[in-house]
Amino acid sequence: MALTNYNPKIVILPYSMTGNTRAVADLIRDLSGDYAAEIHPNPDPKTVPDLIRSTDILMIGTYSWGNGEIPEGFSPILDAVKSHAEPGLITGVFGTGDSFYPAFCGAVDRLAEDLHDTCFVAERLKIELMPQPSDIDRCRTFIHTLTSHLAIATPTQGGIRS
Ligand SMILES: Cc1cc2nc3c(=O)[nH]c(=O)nc-3n(C[C@H](O)[C@H](O)[C@H](O)COP(=O)(O)O)c2cc1C
Repeated sequence: MALTNYNPKIVILPYSMTGNTRAVADLIRDLSGDYAAEIHPNPDPKTVPDLIRSTDILMIGTYSWGNGEIPEGFSPILDAVKSHAEPGLITGVFGTGDSFYPAFCGAVDRLAEDLHDTCFVAERLKIELMPQPSDIDRCRTFIHTLTSHLAIATPTQGGIRS
């Protein structure tokens, strides 16, 4: 009975320069229904350990830079996640990019590959620039894919992560 009123928590960490990736994070949060979704935009890496320790699902996103690269300023955030995430943390990777560039949302793939040994990267989501109404269903699918993994997780103190 103790878990009846427990709303699984989603922590969303968008790294954004001009607002597109932040807008995706806002949309995901708005579509997260009963989940307790909170956004920490461009987080201070020092805050990351506490943020990820307290969550059931991590969603982490960035824009792409250079030739589909992870922006330099995002690296300390990523390092903090890699150093402190529990193995098996249910994680979704998202980002925005511009298909004008050959490596469209290349940072999303780099990020997913980088986190692969640390977290359980369950899904990737790539959005063209500012999210449009046509992206809503894709965001819903992203959320659903991640939350569906909670159903098979085991209850633990402070969360229901296995
Ligand atoms: C100098 C520069 C390089 C970029 N390189 C890429 C790239 O390689 N791949 C891509 O998909 N988008 C690239 N972009 C587009 C940005 O990733 C895109 O505008 C993104 O939505 C910005 O996100 P933000 O508004 O959250 O900062 C580049 C943009 C700039 C200005």
